Amino acid sequence: MPAGEVGDLGTHAGGLASLAGLHPRIAWALGRAADIGPGDVVLDPMCGRGLILLESARQWSQGMYIGVDIDRAQLQDARENSAQARIGSAVTWMHGDCTALPLRDASVDVVICDLPFGKMHGSVEGNVVLYPKMLDEAARVVKPGGRAVLLTSDDNQTVMHEQVAADGHQRKKGNWKLQARNPLQIGCKMPTHIYLLCRMAAGNQEEETDSSPAWHKEAGWGAVRGKRKNYRQEWLKERPDME
Ligand SMILES: C[S@@+](CC[C@H](N)C(=O)[O-])C[C@H]1O[C@@H](n2cnc3c(N)ncnc32)[C@H](O)[C@@H]1O
Repeated sequence: MPAGEVGDLGTHAGGLASLAGLHPRIAWALGRAADIGPGDVVLDPMCGRGLILLESARQWSQGMYIGVDIDRAQLQDARENSAQARIGSAVTWMHGDCTALPLRDASVDVVICDLPFGKMHGSVEGNVVLYPKMLDEAARVVKPGGRAVLLTSDDNQTVMHEQVAADGHQRKKGNWKLQARNPLQIGCKMPTHIYLLCRMAAGNQEEETDSSPAWHKEAGWGAVRGKRKNYRQEWLKERPDME
């Protein structure tokens, strides 16, 4: 099975995972950007081998984690990684389609996802259909004021920008507002960005955004807007056991 989209980087640092997926450092950066708090329900709707959730569950253990994937083999690998990481029952793994999630409306606080870039999984053309459906479905399950942290390559930026306007205003009925779009060096030549989105409340979008959690105003995150951020240093500082 292919690893995550940055599979070449997929090491098994710190013994967290036996089957490579997204590099733990990138997984950590995504979890860090999500500012996971006590009791937060965190969903990865295309979890693959589960590295984002495993890394997050280990680092921010007071969250509740759900991983969904359409590929049963990837889920099986995620379960194996979970056993290796001794995460126990912190993550619930579910077979499902990110465009029709087996979850209730407004039951999730934060979505974190390493989206298929269209190289190893799917295609850039296919993502033009997949991403909008996934975002609509994620908007259904995420609470108003909730958030999404999404990683994708710049090959897919057109469809991302069609869904979340770059000027900070939502383009579609009460769904997502772009809070920040930050470049992230993933160690291969492919340019990628992390998109930080806020789930708008229908009918009162601007006010809801203004009262949304302070995560997007966080200095460390805001300070790197528009610049390449080297997460390695922060990762090593907070995760020395993983090097
Ligand atoms: C980029 S990989 C995720 C890699 C993951 N971060 C890891 O560490 O292994 C994308 C995943 O999306 C899944 N996927 C693609 N289409 C999907 C869909 N419609 N619903 C759910 N999962 C889907 C693929 O099976 C694949 O595991």
